[in-house]
Amino acid sequence: MWRVQLFKLNYDEQEQTAVKEVLDSAWLTMGQKTIDFETAFSEYLGNDSQSLAVSNGTAALHMALLACGIKPGDEVITSSLTFIADQNVTYMTGAVNILADITSMEDWSMDPAEIESHITSKTKAVMIVHYAGYACDMDHIVDICKRHNLYLIEDCAHTPGADYKGRPLGTFGDIAAFSFFSNKNLAVGEGGMVVTRNPEVYSKLKGLRSHGMTVPSFDRYKGRAVSYDIETPGLNYRIDEIRSALGLVQLKKLEEANNKRKELVEHYFRRLDDIQSITIPYREFSRGKPNYHIMPILLSDKIDRNSVIESMKQDGVQTSIHYPAIQNFTAYKGKVNTTPKAEYVSAHELTLPLYPTMTHEEVDIVCGTLIKGLS
Ligand SMILES: Cc1ncc(COP(=O)(O)O)c(C=O)c1O
Repeated sequence: MWRVQLFKLNYDEQEQTAVKEVLDSAWLTMGQKTIDFETAFSEYLGNDSQSLAVSNGTAALHMALLACGIKPGDEVITSSLTFIADQNVTYMTGAVNILADITSMEDWSMDPAEIESHITSKTKAVMIVHYAGYACDMDHIVDICKRHNLYLIEDCAHTPGADYKGRPLGTFGDIAAFSFFSNKNLAVGEGGMVVTRNPEVYSKLKGLRSHGMTVPSFDRYKGRAVSYDIETPGLNYRIDEIRSALGLVQLKKLEEANNKRKELVEHYFRRLDDIQSITIPYREFSRGKPNYHIMPILLSDKIDRNSVIESMKQDGVQTSIHYPAIQNFTAYKGKVNTTPKAEYVSAHELTLPLYPTMTHEEVDIVCGTLIKGLS
């Protein structure tokens, strides 16, 4: 249907072989592949990280809030330019979400000064998002959380392969939540990882993932235990072996895939250089190595975004918006604070296609249709 679609899986026969191996093993629920995926992910992150693979990124975020003991009446400061999962999981705990605005039109990361200005006696946690795989200002944010004794949760849905001053994103906060949804740099369909460097938090997360059971079914299958205890209540946020096997392959491919994304983004930069009616965030600076998760641009307020989207669609190019304003969703209208800069970006942002197997010619097609749509 599309000449150039928004994203494509970076899959080949390696993923097929990995899935076949699991099917041949006849063990589908969490087992050795999951343990191997978690070990490999912790090794990639380093810094004493301990990882637990889970069913998706939203589950990882929910578990993070529960492990921090977030309860009704607490306040959590989150990003105003993010996927709705951050808002929803906070709502589900009964806590109140306070949105912190982004820094500027060039830097769409949460503004540390904004975070600090929203802290009250009820604030318990700050949940940051490294938008598009570009690091937030971690020196300032870690310092704020330490000074105010707040939990720091990193929403790392966009970050596999990205770092801040050489240290992987996901190793700065108390807990990090990764998503491996289909469009992510590490994609398994539905999946996620919750990561901590604190052994006590790790054991809480482990209970939350699987009903609070002290012994997983895999250990009983292996004859290592006959029964289990429930020490604390938990959920079923488990991943399965097929997705863990896919994750292992995708993790191996991550660095090369991110390098390809970088090349493509640089090509976009060259092609979009002299278009006056757009700006490109994060183009002029970086706080570390990004992973180029998506290709966002900002249209000038003279441009009608819907007509650009429609024109590009007519020319076979799929685009998206990252993200619609939280304030405009029916569920949250009138219930969240305003954040003028993020709301402006939400109204004018356009995401162009980007995926590791994309060609330079496809980038040229996208840019050609964009220029046509803008005129
Ligand atoms: C920033 C952000 N947070 C959270 C999520 C939720 O992840 P999942 O779709 O795996 O539940 C996503 C996924 O799209 C995301 O982009």
